[in-house]
Amino acid sequence: MKKWQLAPLLSLLLQTFFSLLSPSLSRDNITLGSPLAYPDTLVSSRNTFALGFFNTSNSSRWYLGIWYTITPQIVIWVANRKNPMPDPNGSLYINSDSSNLQLKTNSSDVLWQASSSSMVDPIAQLYDTGNFVLREKNANKITWQSFDYPTNTLLPDMPFGWIAGQNLNLTSWTDSDNPAPSNYMIKLDQTVWPEIIIWNGSKPIFRTGPLDGYELSSGSPQFDNNKELTFEYVSSQNEAYIKYMSTSSQKLRLVLEHSNFRMYRFDDAETEQKWDLDWSVPDLKYPCDKYAICGEFGVCNSSNNCTCLTGFVPTHEMDWKDSETSQGCKRRDDQLNCTNDRFLSISNVKLPDTTNTTVDRTIKLKECQRRCLKNCSCYAYSNINRGIGCAMWMGNFTDIRKLDQGGSTLYYRVARSELHGTNNLAKKNAAVIATSAILGLLFLASVAYLVHKKFKQKAELLAYSERHSHTSQESSQTLSMIRSCILEEGSRKGNAFNLPIVDVDVLLAATGNFALENKLGEGGFGTVFRGRLEGGERIAVKRLSYSSTQGLSEFKNEVILIAELQHNNLVQLLGCCIAGEERMLIYEYMENKSLDTIIFDKSKSSQLDWPKRFEIIMGIARGILYLHQDSRLRIIHRDLKASNVLLDENMNPKISDFGIARIFGRHDNDSVTNRVVGTYGYMSPEYAMYGVFSIKSDVFSFGVLVLEIISGDKCSGIFGVEPKLNLLSYAWTLWNNGNVLNLLDSSISKNSNDESEIIRCIQVGLLCAQDRPEDRPHMSEAMLMLNSPNMILPLPKQPGYIGDRCMDNMESSTSYMSHDTSITILEPR
Ligand SMILES: *[C@@H]1O[C@H](CO)[C@@H](O)[C@H](O)[C@H]1NC(C)=O
Ligand SMILES: *[C@@H]1O[C@H](CO)[C@@H](O)[C@H](O)[C@H]1NC(C)=O
Ligand SMILES: *[C@@H]1O[C@H](CO)[C@@H](O)[C@H](O)[C@H]1NC(C)=O
Ligand SMILES: *[C@@H]1O[C@H](CO)[C@@H](O)[C@H](O)[C@H]1NC(C)=O
Ligand SMILES: *[C@@H]1O[C@H](CO)[C@@H](O)[C@H](O)[C@H]1NC(C)=O
Ligand SMILES: *[C@@H]1O[C@H](CO)[C@@H](O)[C@H](O)[C@H]1NC(C)=O
Ligand SMILES: *[C@@H]1O[C@H](CO)[C@@H](O)[C@H](O)[C@H]1NC(C)=O
Ligand SMILES: *[C@@H]1O[C@H](CO)[C@@H](O)[C@H](O)[C@H]1NC(C)=O
Ligand SMILES: *[C@@H]1O[C@H](CO)[C@@H](O)[C@H](O)[C@H]1NC(C)=O
Ligand SMILES: *[C@@H]1O[C@H](CO)[C@@H](O)[C@H](O)[C@H]1NC(C)=O
Ligand SMILES: *[C@@H]1O[C@H](CO)[C@@H](O)[C@H](O)[C@H]1NC(C)=O
Ligand SMILES: *[C@@H]1O[C@H](CO)[C@@H](O)[C@H](O)[C@H]1NC(C)=O
Repeated sequence: MKKWQLAPLLSLLLQTFFSLLSPSLSRDNITLGSPLAYPDTLVSSRNTFALGFFNTSNSSRWYLGIWYTITPQIVIWVANRKNPMPDPNGSLYINSDSSNLQLKTNSSDVLWQASSSSMVDPIAQLYDTGNFVLREKNANKITWQSFDYPTNTLLPDMPFGWIAGQNLNLTSWTDSDNPAPSNYMIKLDQTVWPEIIIWNGSKPIFRTGPLDGYELSSGSPQFDNNKELTFEYVSSQNEAYIKYMSTSSQKLRLVLEHSNFRMYRFDDAETEQKWDLDWSVPDLKYPCDKYAICGEFGVCNSSNNCTCLTGFVPTHEMDWKDSETSQGCKRRDDQLNCTNDRFLSISNVKLPDTTNTTVDRTIKLKECQRRCLKNCSCYAYSNINRGIGCAMWMGNFTDIRKLDQGGSTLYYRVARSELHGTNNLAKKNAAVIATSAILGLLFLASVAYLVHKKFKQKAELLAYSERHSHTSQESSQTLSMIRSCILEEGSRKGNAFNLPIVDVDVLLAATGNFALENKLGEGGFGTVFRGRLEGGERIAVKRLSYSSTQGLSEFKNEVILIAELQHNNLVQLLGCCIAGEERMLIYEYMENKSLDTIIFDKSKSSQLDWPKRFEIIMGIARGILYLHQDSRLRIIHRDLKASNVLLDENMNPKISDFGIARIFGRHDNDSVTNRVVGTYGYMSPEYAMYGVFSIKSDVFSFGVLVLEIISGDKCSGIFGVEPKLNLLSYAWTLWNNGNVLNLLDSSISKNSNDESEIIRCIQVGLLCAQDRPEDRPHMSEAMLMLNSPNMILPLPKQPGYIGDRCMDNMESSTSYMSHDTSITILEPR
């Protein structure tokens, strides 16, 4: 009998003992009958966060808050910021009538409450994400959550922006002792086009720059370059927000402290556990962070100096000391002639303040330019969302930052006379070169027209000139000048943004009559030659090999559409040329040729170490994502492969030959084609066998490409003795045998820190190359997987290789019949 009584008593004692000793046994929720009172706390299920009462310093101010369970105590959320309790003797409970969550002092004043609709069996629970949630016990519908009322901290995966009809904001604590909101606030601002802005009252002090597509690029190196987090922008009919995901195994938090938005990372090394500051914006080290530091029409450049836009001079002729620069710049020649102005462009910039901007998401660059020219107070325009849509700045604009790479291109209005005069000698030269190039183009065009029949003889006379040699920066500047001149020329003729239609004579001269020694390569769509224009700019010219099914104007329209696609990871189409039956495309010249010339060449492949290869993979992914998702055309490339990925002087990958399928008149809205264009090995099974293609066919090719980049072997390589394997089947075999790292190119030096990233990339490659299109991820998902070390990836299923068909030296054209569809396989190489 005694024994029987002892057991419950003992367990009760034990429970009390443990609950006193170890907070991890404490509860994570409040229900109707169980309020929370000091000194109890709620602790989330995996012991990450605690909720309870805390005081700051000596004060007699007490708050209800959430903090990390790790020391030092870092508070991430405060309920009663403005209404402290005089002593800890209060309680947090659920009101049985209203289901509201209430904080009551000892004297029964309600200091704070979370409103909710009435519920059966309500429960308030602290999640391990740091979210404190009020809901019905047996339903998942949340009626209130602390994530909707952030204070000064943004946690991973916490939506920030327009949610449930309100625009969330963070405000910093008044000081380290007082959580009451200060004057500093950060929010996702939507004047017209979302960007993150830190405000001091009603004055902006830092802008990230507007969202470009779905990427958040701030033009602030410390913000952009941190690899520990990736931002994601989510928008739907009712909501638009960003959130960040941590790619680090360490705890991260973003917090607004005083006027600075900061990222902290928890260093959990045994010796010293502490939060390290990773970055902070604005940062005194980067004066360009400071809002409008260079004033109107001023540009803060990447060495943190102020300059004026071309055509502008400092408002006060004075030394550019920090304190003086905010006066900005003014037009050198004040006379804007409304109807007869022109536009200059500046690329790689953080776009100016968007307060006085109008946005039209449906029109494209050429229409944008036409509208801006018509409206005299439109001082600048730009693409938004990487190509779709138009933004126009009305009146003076400010806060432009020049970046080393990335960013957008801003087209700004100047007086026509600015074509010739600039202070800057280099720019002057460029302008002169550009002018002569234009005049040269026009002159040649008319001459060519007159002596069309003699054009062969004449072409020989046009000697390939190497008189001017230019650095790549100068020539890209000149090219952009040419572009803007042509822009302007086109607008005068009433058809804005004419794609440069280049005369064949110019190309003959540039390529030495398409001399064999200038041949760069041959692809399924034609032969590529290198060339150098009169002014010294280098170009690549592709002579299309078989004639288009399209008419001339249709061809031009397609080329113009494709030329408007602009992305850092796409090769820029500069113009086209039509001469009789012959059609040519003019591209920017890529210093380092194509990816295949490096990775498959054992003497060169060591140039690309693993981090570089990873960057190349990411760059290609971004380019494809743009084609699939962010450009209005929704282009399926259909011939992604190593030789179609070109590398610029910094080894940045740029995809070429995109949209060519459109030029040949096979529009992407048919999903079945009777002419398969592509390269064996990169072709998805459904495309190669049935001519069925979709964006998932590109995903397949991307998967193969990823494996090639990792292994340095062609997809058609032969591995093993019996049975003979191609790259995909080889990778799949290694995967199943658990020794997938054997795939790695032997020229990559082994670094165990990279191993998990390499394995993840291989897994993503295999996922992309799965047999069934519906199993393959979308490019956006593939990118997320590549970017998130902590994400648990699905296991790949069998890849879609078709026997040993991954052959290298296919005949240039093979036809066979399959399922009533005639298939032509062209092997470009
Ligand atoms: C609430 O906390 C108690 C522990 O006090 C726990 O047993 C219960 O499962 C929790 N309820 C929910 C829904 O998690
Ligand atoms: C909170 O107040 C108590 C006295 O009530 C004091 O001993 C303690 O140091 C205070 N806490 C902090 C964090 O200052
Ligand atoms: C606490 O109070 C003492 C004396 O009032 C003061 O010297 C000290 O600076 C205070 N500490 C904080 C953190 O405010
Ligand atoms: C809280 O209430 C208890 C009695 O319930 C009292 O002894 C204690 O002094 C109170 N604490 C404060 C800080 O007022
Ligand atoms: C708090 O309330 C209790 C009774 O509920 C009372 O005994 C105590 O004195 C009160 N404390 C204060 C500081 O008001
Ligand atoms: C910031 O958010 C709070 C709610 O958390 C809201 O009351 C306030 O109006 C917001 N401020 C601005 C400027 O949006
Ligand atoms: C914020 O504004 C106040 C008042 O205008 C000013 O004193 C303070 O220096 C500003 N802070 C920053 C960081 O610019
Ligand atoms: C930035 O501007 C300064 C002043 O005009 C100039 O000396 C410097 O070369 C520029 N830096 C870059 C990277 O353009
Ligand atoms: C440009 O900025 C650097 C510091 O970032 C400074 O040392 C240099 O003097 C500046 N140059 C000019 C021309 O202002
Ligand atoms: C725009 O800038 C010019 C100088 O270029 C200045 O004279 C004018 O006042 C500015 N306009 C506004 C509205 O700030
Ligand atoms: C603009 O320039 C054109 C051509 O030079 C001229 O006819 C026109 O009068 C000018 N308009 C203004 C407002 O200056
Ligand atoms: C927007 O336009 C108004 C009126 O011209 C001007 O006062 C204001 O400074 C402009 N804002 C920005 C950020 O350019």
